[in-house]
Amino acid sequence: MSAQEQLNKETIKIYQKISRHVPEIEWKIHAPLIEKINKLKKEKNAVILAHNYQTPEIYHGVADIAADSLALAVEASKTSADIIVLCGVHFMAETAKLMSPNKKVFIPDMGAGCSLAESLTGNDVRLLKKKYPGVPVVSYVNTSADVKAETDICCTSANAVKVVESLKTDKVIFLPDQHLANYVAKQTKVKIISWKGSCIVHEQFSAKEIKDIRSANPGIKVIGHPECPDDVLEACDFAGSTGGMIDYVKKNQPKKVMLVTECSMSDNVQADNPKVDFIKPCNLCPYMKKITLNKILDCLENETNEIFIEDKISKAARKSVQRMAEIGR
Ligand code: 13P
Ligand code: SF4
Repeated sequence: MSAQEQLNKETIKIYQKISRHVPEIEWKIHAPLIEKINKLKKEKNAVILAHNYQTPEIYHGVADIAADSLALAVEASKTSADIIVLCGVHFMAETAKLMSPNKKVFIPDMGAGCSLAESLTGNDVRLLKKKYPGVPVVSYVNTSADVKAETDICCTSANAVKVVESLKTDKVIFLPDQHLANYVAKQTKVKIISWKGSCIVHEQFSAKEIKDIRSANPGIKVIGHPECPDDVLEACDFAGSTGGMIDYVKKNQPKKVMLVTECSMSDNVQADNPKVDFIKPCNLCPYMKKITLNKILDCLENETNEIFIEDKISKAARKSVQRMAEIGR
């Protein structure tokens, strides 16, 4: 078999799945990279964990597991691979390292940040603890290891209410997403002390946009991420983590749907649910989009961009992430 025939054999099924979302001219560049990455993964006993916002050629082409941030953290702790390549943003790779401290964890681009994680530091948390002595700190997993080290327990949007209520207190400091904090406050009697962080992707949606889309598409189901502002979530039929949104589409198979979240997710979910019609508002996460097949290959080949966390920070941060994982979904 010629090299070209071999390449076609190994990648044709992937392309059939995502051909609506990846132009043929781009596929010619992606296919050989996908073949090389998948071969190298086996040789090095590496696993690729990818967030649901990764592009279709990563999500469907090379990811061993594609999931929301809670599932990625749990999967990182369970894997028997020697190497984890985290295709997502920096806090996700740090979380994987906290969950699997003895594995080598890499991120294809160290510059893949997050506006929420950048909105506060460990020192900010120390000051808040002084201001509200004795009040437990719940931090969204979208934070640095420094912040996690000052945190009692982490959460994701998949388990935020459950985590807050698990503390059995009348007040919690909830960091750093103001919109997720509002979402939680509406579902619990616990008083939520929040921070002013926000996600640059989800804060761009508006209730007016949803209203207009509903009028143009009668019967459409609108599903939002809890990082969206309050009035946007009010205009949605359902809110959940990226994993929760995917499950909703899978189970309900709506005729037409709009996912009020990052662009690539609609493409990824549509490829798995071909009967569902998607209306796609396009708000890109510039951080997630820093991850490319070329950079993943470089990570695997040259072991570049390894994640290291200082021992002192790592010990304290690990506890808050493990507590979150124990609470589950
Ligand atoms: P999920 O935990 O829902 O995957 O969300 C992570 C994220 O960064 C959303 O913007
Ligand atoms: Fe951070 Fe928002 Fe990007 Fe998620 S979508 S990684 S919260 S900036």
